[in-house]
Amino acid sequence: MSVDADQPRSVEFWDNLYKEGRLPWDCGGVPERLRRFIELENGEGRVAGKSVLIPGCGSAYEAAYLASRGMQVTAIDVSEPAIERARSIVGDLPVRFEVSDFFELVQNDFDFVYERAFLCAIHPSFRDRFPAVLRSLLKDEGKLFGFFFVDTERKSGPPYPIAEVNLSTLMTGLFQQEADESTEDQLAVFEGKERWQVWSKVL
Ligand SMILES: C[S@@+](CC[C@H](N)C(=O)[O-])C[C@H]1O[C@@H](n2cnc3c(N)ncnc32)[C@H](O)[C@@H]1O
Repeated sequence: MSVDADQPRSVEFWDNLYKEGRLPWDCGGVPERLRRFIELENGEGRVAGKSVLIPGCGSAYEAAYLASRGMQVTAIDVSEPAIERARSIVGDLPVRFEVSDFFELVQNDFDFVYERAFLCAIHPSFRDRFPAVLRSLLKDEGKLFGFFFVDTERKSGPPYPIAEVNLSTLMTGLFQQEADESTEDQLAVFEGKERWQVWSKVL
């Protein structure tokens, strides 16, 4: 994957990848660590009925899974072809889809936000707004959970990994980290550097 530095958020860039079926980040299913979090650590009864936002949902396998667990799922992506693909994967399950830019979403009160390969898809020059937008989308006791590509920063991408210290600086004051682990079923594109993390709002 590569994108011109002067077009860091080109919708066309993403549209073309989906149209060409070039999706090296696509894991083709639901990560095992997410299943454990939902089914064991949260308990099915506890997540049923809760709302979850999936920004940059891509193929949205997880949207289907979370909806099948009784969650109210909103899945957004800036790319129309991505949403078309996601709709065909999710089928009849009750997922609310939107073609939207995460950075333009209006305030909400989601219980959860699920992250995978979204932050690392954003050009580092736009990252600063990520935690503030997230905060405005989550209710006070809301949580962000998911997978973060944590590694030495690089100029070209996506993906743009984020250095551990920079992720910590980015979130400081707005979110506190509750979990940080390596994960088992990683794709080559993440080079073994994908971390499972849970963050809660600082109140
Ligand atoms: C690397 S893909 C990851 C897709 C999916 N989360 C997954 O794990 O397979 C990044 C996704 O973010 C979307 N995206 C990029 N910038 C976005 C933005 N500002 N708002 C919403 N979606 C965006 C892209 O269209 C793409 O589908």
